[in-house]
Amino acid sequence: MKNIVVLVSGGGTNLQRIFDTIDSGEIPNAKVKLVVADRPCFGLQRAENENVKNILIPRGKNFCELLEKEIPENTDLIVLAGFLSIITKDFCEKFRGKIINIHPALLPKFGGKGMWGIHVHNAVIESGEKKSGATVHFVTPGVDEGEIILQGEIEVDANDTAESLANKIHIVEYDIFPKAIAKVLSK
Ligand code: GRF
Repeated sequence: MKNIVVLVSGGGTNLQRIFDTIDSGEIPNAKVKLVVADRPCFGLQRAENENVKNILIPRGKNFCELLEKEIPENTDLIVLAGFLSIITKDFCEKFRGKIINIHPALLPKFGGKGMWGIHVHNAVIESGEKKSGATVHFVTPGVDEGEIILQGEIEVDANDTAESLANKIHIVEYDIFPKAIAKVLSK
């Protein structure tokens, strides 16, 4: 059995997808042992509804130090599923190769500090890109710079808004995230 810890900051629809695809077997032989949020959010409620241990560690300077103390001994993978705090270099190194993130754009484009949520989609629209999508990648100290595991694309239409792009990209995320998690866990 592979043990997963999920970090969230928001609504947690990707977290829900992880629960559902573990249940369906798309992510085989895995269990979410712990959900951690860095602010009050619905993601914690989703964990509660699934009877999964969940804790709030308020965002701030010592977040990663406190987080490290909570990570269960036998954790195979730490999944950032809509998580907005920056993970420290020390934490990245301690769990090297075991932390993955989902980003709502086709990295290496539209990544880095300040590129999150609606800011990403606004930047894509302003740049006139014809394609966007989602990327699952390993987390390293450089923000959004780790090795890419899986990407999924969507077309950007002339009448797309940041909100419509976010909706289209969420659907791609629900497809590639479980696949990427299963892929990493199978290694
Ligand atoms: C996703 O678009 C993800 O790419 C980004 O944050 C969003 C989280 O959405 N990092 P949800 O909380 O899973 O619904």
